[in-house]
Amino acid sequence: MLPERIATRYVTPLREGGSLPGIVEADDLGTYVMKFTGAGQGRKTLVAEVVCGELGRRLGLRVPDLVRLQLDPVIGLAEPDEEVQDLLKASGGLNLGMDYLPGSIGFDPLAYEADPGEAGRIVWFDALINNVDRSWRNPNLLVWHGKLWLIDHGATMIWHHNWPGAAAAAGKPYDASDHVLASFAPDIDAAAADLAPRITDALLTEVLALVPDEWLAGEPGFDSTDDLRRAYVEALLARAGIHDRIKLGPRTADRPSQVPGWLATELPKRSAR
Ligand SMILES: Nc1ncnc2c1ncn2[C@@H]1O[C@H](COP(=O)(O)OP(=O)(O)OP(=O)(O)O)[C@@H](O)[C@H]1O
Ligand SMILES: [Mg+2]
Repeated sequence: MLPERIATRYVTPLREGGSLPGIVEADDLGTYVMKFTGAGQGRKTLVAEVVCGELGRRLGLRVPDLVRLQLDPVIGLAEPDEEVQDLLKASGGLNLGMDYLPGSIGFDPLAYEADPGEAGRIVWFDALINNVDRSWRNPNLLVWHGKLWLIDHGATMIWHHNWPGAAAAAGKPYDASDHVLASFAPDIDAAAADLAPRITDALLTEVLALVPDEWLAGEPGFDSTDDLRRAYVEALLARAGIHDRIKLGPRTADRPSQVPGWLATELPKRSAR
């Protein structure tokens, strides 16, 4: 199970995030980015954060620590913004916390270099989890102490929004042309050789066990949360051979974004470069 903490102070909203995550302090004196169960995008976003964040960590990628974060909405009473108030009121109880990386800045492909080995591992991982949200428009990659850190895995595993189509979705290619690391000659062959054999039933089962039951309960078509966990394991296992289906073409600024409609409306506006 992920460690559990109690939020003790709501500090400020992170206005760049479409889901309005907030910075909070907790009873371990840590500072966390809180992702709320009451956010419009729903519990599946949090499930995706846990599954993909913890899987990435086990594959050797840098992901800030994740915790279960208990919220009493009363800690936000002094917050003047009504939208934030509503979000806090709708999110009493269990939420997700991600360790806040103070002083980190967003990765900018024009300002930083990434090495082909690391770029390959991140692109391959994003293909595995079908991440549509690590593009040059919205990198969801932080630079902290000179290293890359992966955040925001909420828009991954698109198949979990339509389980009947999951088996077919797992076989679909991954277009990495707009990936924020596409221009760094990602060594996808080396990444696949290293990482694909590590995507095992045992590893995925371990990761799925970290997802709180209450975020999985009640999914139509499944008798139990363990059945649903099994479906995640099988969908990811089926995608471990994604290597040959990763496309890296020219960046296509004028092509419609691949980000799903429910997320696109929430994305911060960034000017094309
Ligand atoms: N662990 C962290 N440490 C420091 N800053 C962070 C952290 N997590 C998120 N941020 C900052 O907050 C912003 C919003 O976070 P995040 O991308 O997770 O939210 P979101 O609502 O899912 O956003 P999106 O609009 O991309 O869907 C990030 O772009 C980053 O600037
Ligand atoms: Mg984001």
